[in-house]
Amino acid sequence: MATRRISSLISRSFSSSSAAALLLQGRNSRSIRRFGTAVAAEEPITPPVKVEHTQLLINGQFVDSASGKTFPTLDPRTGEVIAHVAEGDSEDINRAVSAARKAFDEGPWPKMTAYERSRILLRFADLIEKHNDEIAALETWDNGKPFEQAAEVEVPMLARLIRYYAGWADKIHGLTVPADGPYHVQTLHEPIGVAGQIIPWNFPLLMYAWKIGPALACGNAIVLKTAEQTPLSALYVSKLLYEAGLPAGVLNVVSGFGPIAGAALASHMDVDKLAFTGSTATGKIVLELSSKSNLKPVTLELGGKSPFIICEDADVDQAVELAHFALFFNQGQCCCAGSRTFVHERVYDEFVEKAKARALKRVVGDPFKKGVEQGPQIDLEQFEKIMKFIKSGIESGATLESGGERLGSKGYYIQPTVFSDVKDGMAIATEEIFGPVQSILKFNDLDEVIRRANATRYGLAAGVFTKSLDNTNTLTRALKAGTVWVNCFDIFDAAIPFGGYKMSGQGREKGIYSLQNYLQVKAVVTPLKNPAWL
Ligand code: NAI
Ligand code: MG
Repeated sequence: MATRRISSLISRSFSSSSAAALLLQGRNSRSIRRFGTAVAAEEPITPPVKVEHTQLLINGQFVDSASGKTFPTLDPRTGEVIAHVAEGDSEDINRAVSAARKAFDEGPWPKMTAYERSRILLRFADLIEKHNDEIAALETWDNGKPFEQAAEVEVPMLARLIRYYAGWADKIHGLTVPADGPYHVQTLHEPIGVAGQIIPWNFPLLMYAWKIGPALACGNAIVLKTAEQTPLSALYVSKLLYEAGLPAGVLNVVSGFGPIAGAALASHMDVDKLAFTGSTATGKIVLELSSKSNLKPVTLELGGKSPFIICEDADVDQAVELAHFALFFNQGQCCCAGSRTFVHERVYDEFVEKAKARALKRVVGDPFKKGVEQGPQIDLEQFEKIMKFIKSGIESGATLESGGERLGSKGYYIQPTVFSDVKDGMAIATEEIFGPVQSILKFNDLDEVIRRANATRYGLAAGVFTKSLDNTNTLTRALKAGTVWVNCFDIFDAAIPFGGYKMSGQGREKGIYSLQNYLQVKAVVTPLKNPAWL
């Protein structure tokens, strides 16, 4: 269902209406000025939701932080404060870990039947569906992503993921293993204990589901730290999970800053497993914190610089649209964004011209407005980082085809930006920009593009656009990436595993592969008394 919705978002973005053309921004200065003024002068639309929960969620209760401190969470459309949120520190992490420990060691959760656990998760999914639009509005307000994307794709996907894991709960079991002697050997698949989970701000709810889904299905207890930019939606939905019947302390949600609350969780001696999504730099830190504390196993889902390869036989119009979606989706804030668009020289000029035209048509504006494809970037820090990359692209000699500037004077809107003539060594071709900046590179044969596509320390995803089965088979095998999408991109069904090669991460999330992150395997060996019945 979610896949269909994503496809409908793509196809809708194929046809921008002429009414929406008023909102379109262009390269020439007149249209930039006109659009810029529109963004600045327009009052932001009032979000159709109230912020109800700003405290920490520990042991099933909303509580203030131990220090009493709060921090503001900001509206990316304006930079103004949405709400002040309790700021967790190491003492709050201690409280949350104790609650999770108690829930796991003494509480009913790991001991209840798997069917009962799955029914709680199914009730949770129903409640998510019931509150779909409030949840989506909160996500848009805190993050800046288009409301239509949140309401039609992400929140339904959240419910889908929870149902998927509810389905797994009662299908997790060990094996009977043959032995070289008179022994009965079996494996027990047990929950690992207390899982620490640290999530980023780009898809707050989906990252929440990717983390809590498998952990809960396997019977673990959790302390989850949200990103400081987007604390609101996880608090709202976690309350629904308790309404669905989750026993106290099984999921604890701590808002707070990475180097304080996040580091306290990663280095906690009583946390049995850590799952992290975010930058490669922070991934290295949490891995080190684990190695310096109790060697808790760590799964990492990190950054990327994913190639999107358009072969000479491609239908150029379709390739342009898909490459546009692969990069600009979610304001370009995707770990797997197709951020190196490799185009065969035979179709290169046509592609560049059409990619530019498509970017100029992209509808940027208040994410609560219907038909808007792109909202603001998450915060000032990311905005400034992206603007620096744009400057470096221009200075290093790439051709700026469209965009390149801020939109309006309020909030963190950036023009959809396209660079052509990008060379492999340029920073815009090697670094994760995490913004609406497309870098187009030219290639002329398959071996060459394979070598160049793989010449990166990342290996999260890749896209291939071709009509040829031979190209498909060669590229899907040769590309060093955890996901290869052929003639499609960003297909994220619950059962499809996701994760990185090289410095894009360790381990896989989603699908059957995610369960092993949250299970211990215990071998149980008993002698057989009567060898006649071996
Ligand atoms: P980050 O990796 O620092 O933050 C992600 C999460 O880690 C947040 O919850 C944060 O509070 C936590 N964190 C930060 N420092 C920590 C520490 N010392 N110990 C434990 N937890 C810590 O990413 P940030 O600063 O938000 O963005 C920087 C860049 O990272 C972006 O420009 C983008 O390139 C990349 N990024 C990649 C994401 C992905 O999905 N792979 C998501 C977000 C950012
Ligand atoms: Mg925010």
